[in-house]
Amino acid sequence: MNETVLQEAMQQIQLRRYHARLEYEKRLEEVNRKIPPLAEINTKLARTSLILMDILRKGGDVRKQVEQLQDENLEAQHIAEQLLESSGYPTDYLDMHYICEKCQDTGYVNGCYCDCVRNLAASIGIAKMNQRAQMELSDFSQFSLEYYKGKTTDKNEDCYAHMCKVYNSCVSYADEFTKSSPSLLFYGGAGLGKTHLSLSIARKVIEKGYEVIYDSVINLLEQIEREHFSRENTEMDTQSLLLSVDLLILDDLGTEFSSSFNISALYNIINTRLNRGLPTIISTNLDYQGILRRYEERIVSRLFAVYKCMQFMGTDIRQMKKSKKQRKDDRNGFSDTGKNEVFHPELHDAEGGAEQA
Ligand SMILES: Nc1ncnc2c1ncn2[C@@H]1O[C@H](COP(=O)(O)OP(=O)(O)O)[C@@H](O)[C@H]1O
Ligand SMILES: [Mg+2]
Ligand SMILES: [Zn+2]
Repeated sequence: MNETVLQEAMQQIQLRRYHARLEYEKRLEEVNRKIPPLAEINTKLARTSLILMDILRKGGDVRKQVEQLQDENLEAQHIAEQLLESSGYPTDYLDMHYICEKCQDTGYVNGCYCDCVRNLAASIGIAKMNQRAQMELSDFSQFSLEYYKGKTTDKNEDCYAHMCKVYNSCVSYADEFTKSSPSLLFYGGAGLGKTHLSLSIARKVIEKGYEVIYDSVINLLEQIEREHFSRENTEMDTQSLLLSVDLLILDDLGTEFSSSFNISALYNIINTRLNRGLPTIISTNLDYQGILRRYEERIVSRLFAVYKCMQFMGTDIRQMKKSKKQRKDDRNGFSDTGKNEVFHPELHDAEGGAEQA
């Protein structure tokens, strides 16, 4: 685990303990004010450790005195519970309420970090990674199928009909997501909506409470390589986060440098997640042949045999949006030098729907 992430997690956990204490003191103050006999008992109970020290200091039959003190305290606690109950409070109202009962929000169990620290540190690590990827979540509602209308592939396949199916599978995938959902491979040319749909899935899955890491293959591999060769002692690194996160989205496979380090890191991620039954979404601009040419058999066989492959078809939507905007700007009298030229209101119409290329 990365040291700074761990420290951040520990700080947050200490804050939890502090809040638990604060909330407890508020409840105590409230019931002491409302139930005076209870206030008396609570004051007495709070003095237990002082009385105990007194017993030890004076000596004599210590054991007998301690036992007597314990009995008195038990009795006092019993009365306190009855007082709480008769005033309409739950009997555990004056217990400390920790977020993690296992370590009582100390972060340690038997001198080791508690699971809650590891979980929190993983969440912090994931949030940091997504921040680095500047993940701007897309939305299914911003995905328009109009862009695929009237387009056909070389093999005369109807892009619109095909992309409707792709879109619907992605929506159901996100709706029905669990940690054992299948892995997906999005492949097809640039600007066809692969990143848009994978980020729409990410948004939905995050809303459902799962942890998602999204980044380009290039960024993630660079990060892993940097950590691998750095001298810092990292107990848990990016790689282990990628291997264990609920959903991993690897964008733009095929743009990374084809080194043996990268290939084996990639294989490790794909293979380990498959073995663990965890879903991964990979997108690539490579086509079937391109993937075959670029990757070794052990990667290809996994991608094609185990991943659910979805082909993206159509015309580059980024380009379509760009030229549409350009035409609009031209008509509105904005040249690309930024100078405001003549504005022709008769040419200024409302744009709607997608254009046919
Ligand atoms: N079907 C769609 N409807 C609306 N916008 C889209 C659609 N497909 C892609 N876009 C937009 O076009 C741009 C390129 O899409 P992107 O998903 O990055 O393509 P890819 O990852 O396939 O290269 C993005 O701004 C994206 O939001
Ligand atoms: Mg993309
Ligand atoms: Zn804990």
